[in-house]
Amino acid sequence: MYKLLIRPILFWFDPEKVHYFTFSLIRTLSKIPGISSLFKFLYVVEDKRLETEVFGLKFKNRVGLAAGFDKDASLYKELSDFGFGFIEIGTLTPKGQEGNPKKRLFRLKEDNAIINRMGFNNIGVLKAVEKLKKNKGVLIGGNIGKNKLTPNENAVDDYVICFDALYDYVDYFVVNVSSPNTPNLRELQEKDPLKLLLQTLQTLNLTKPKQKPILLKIAPDLTDTQLLDIIDIVMETKIAGVIATNTTLSREGLQSENKEKIGGMSGKPLGKRATEVIRFLSEKSNKAFPIIGVGGIHSPEDAIEKLEAGASLIQIYTGFIYEGPVLIKNINEAILKNL
Ligand code: FNR
Repeated sequence: MYKLLIRPILFWFDPEKVHYFTFSLIRTLSKIPGISSLFKFLYVVEDKRLETEVFGLKFKNRVGLAAGFDKDASLYKELSDFGFGFIEIGTLTPKGQEGNPKKRLFRLKEDNAIINRMGFNNIGVLKAVEKLKKNKGVLIGGNIGKNKLTPNENAVDDYVICFDALYDYVDYFVVNVSSPNTPNLRELQEKDPLKLLLQTLQTLNLTKPKQKPILLKIAPDLTDTQLLDIIDIVMETKIAGVIATNTTLSREGLQSENKEKIGGMSGKPLGKRATEVIRFLSEKSNKAFPIIGVGGIHSPEDAIEKLEAGASLIQIYTGFIYEGPVLIKNINEAILKNL
């Protein structure tokens, strides 16, 4: 139904407008008595065997919504009705910001991909906290970043502000240093600044009554040497794990007219590289820490491939847009069959 009827209509319009239109639609529909239960009936797969414990948290299933879809934490409850085991909100920054000028989101239909250069548009961490106060039981990851105008020398301060503000309202944290759309952000993935950033957050974490898992989200464009450095840093700073991967700057194998647009590419063509990164991290670290696998999951087979490469959990974004909510159910059913 989604691919045959809904998607062709949605894909007729501007992608960013469709995003907000869909948000309003889902929110409005969910207010109608019975609709939330109907979505759950259609998409949620409830089975004890899907449950898993990763970095001390209990997940209802392994399939999560990746960061960037519900940046402002405005729809996590309704989105969880589509069967996600967890929802990652953000990237949030201390101050709200507009992001890059529009148009900044492009479909690459022939490639089942997206290019975006949103640039961390978000309402700011404090406003997002207000929305999270209403949470009743959805497992939430808080993805944090820095404001565009904050120079890299002061980046740590921005992450600290976000960490403190969100601490009571999220279950785990993601340190995003891998978006290609904030100038120079990816330089924070280099050894020294990264170690400083993660150590500062871990020290802060230790002052809290209960420590929350901190994960690092990395780019797929890192070299093997850089990935080995990441393993060292994760071990040294004792953070909980890694999310692999964010969007890529690569345009390898793309056909669509929009392939020359500036920004990060996500979706099907990212899948192979994201899996390679997951496998590399898992093998070279001897499975020393959990990995959330994300990038190009458009089918249950893609999801199983990520899990077999070493991911403990997976996330989807572009696959959700192209395949619709049934993808989550299909993945969960495939995981059950694969047990
Ligand atoms: C993203 N992604 C992203 N990641 C992140 O850590 N913070 C963010 O704010 C965003 N924003 C964002 C916006 C848009 C429009 C897209 C398409 C993606 C990256 C996302 O979470 C994921 O890592 C990649 O998209 C790869 O997964 P998929 O899309 O191939 O399933």
